[in-house]
Amino acid sequence: MSEFHITRTLPEDAMAAALRADVQKGLTSDPKTLPPKWFYDARGSELFEQITELPEYYPTRAEREILAGRAAEIADALPARTLVELGSGSSEKTRHLIDALRRLHTYVPVDVSDTALEQAGRALVAERPGLNVHALIADFTAGLALPPSPGPRLLAFLGGTIGNLLPGERAEFLASVRALLSPGDALLLGTDLVKAEDVLVRAYDDAAGVTAAFNKNVLNVVNRELGADFDPDAFDHVALWDPANEWIEMRLRSRAEQTVKVPALDLAVHFAAGEELRTEVSAKFRKDRVSAELAAAGLELARWWTDGEERFALSLSVVV
Ligand code: AVJ
Repeated sequence: MSEFHITRTLPEDAMAAALRADVQKGLTSDPKTLPPKWFYDARGSELFEQITELPEYYPTRAEREILAGRAAEIADALPARTLVELGSGSSEKTRHLIDALRRLHTYVPVDVSDTALEQAGRALVAERPGLNVHALIADFTAGLALPPSPGPRLLAFLGGTIGNLLPGERAEFLASVRALLSPGDALLLGTDLVKAEDVLVRAYDDAAGVTAAFNKNVLNVVNRELGADFDPDAFDHVALWDPANEWIEMRLRSRAEQTVKVPALDLAVHFAAGEELRTEVSAKFRKDRVSAELAAAGLELARWWTDGEERFALSLSVVV
């Protein structure tokens, strides 16, 4: 018999409080920033799904190619009985891995959005007799407690989302992942790789304007949740490559001087003409840096797989 459980470790109002704190801090900083996690309301998640199908946005296809081609090798390297997936979303790409893990006892998808978790979880339990799904509604950047389940455990963090964290946040995150693992467990990490600037910039500034709409949607989120009066059309989408940090930055550039009100925070935010608000950092990696950052967190890079064009990598690292 398989079972489906869903546990909320994130209080309903914790998200609202976190958004308020992030907007207060980010819009009163110089330069102004907003964290990328607020892109993903229902509309933002839909726009991101569209991004993954754009000709310019290669990471999702490249990672799916690796998972489809190497799932058996990954399963051989770590025949997990528990698979934990951080930021699982629709769990679509993960299916290759779940199918290959023949000894899998429990799948633990973790996401801040309960809708994706419910649907994907129930479908899986119905299709794979004997597999338990214990979904967690949680913010994995804020410390995680995993349900009891048999080892070895494989913790997957796919999509290149680790690139959204700044270096210090990344170190902290990898240390917290290491703390969740025991000897014999492993981390499967998806990282987008450094490549030609024009390819990278196009992936974040597509011809159809879907990424521009995704970027501006964060202003709609702040309007809806905090009563702000942002006019998304008063901002231009900007994507640029920072060669020193080896990351892509997305920004929103104010087309004119303007003042935006955020009533829930009793805040008036002044933008000069041309002033930019940073909405996302998406770091790109080289193998050496992935290996060094893992090592600093007490994890040892054991396997490294890339797609045929070496655009994206999956690494498997183990507890040292
Ligand atoms: C979902 C964080 C992996 O950084 O490439 C896509 C988000 N931003 N286009 C990325 C995103 C702009 C994406 N991640």
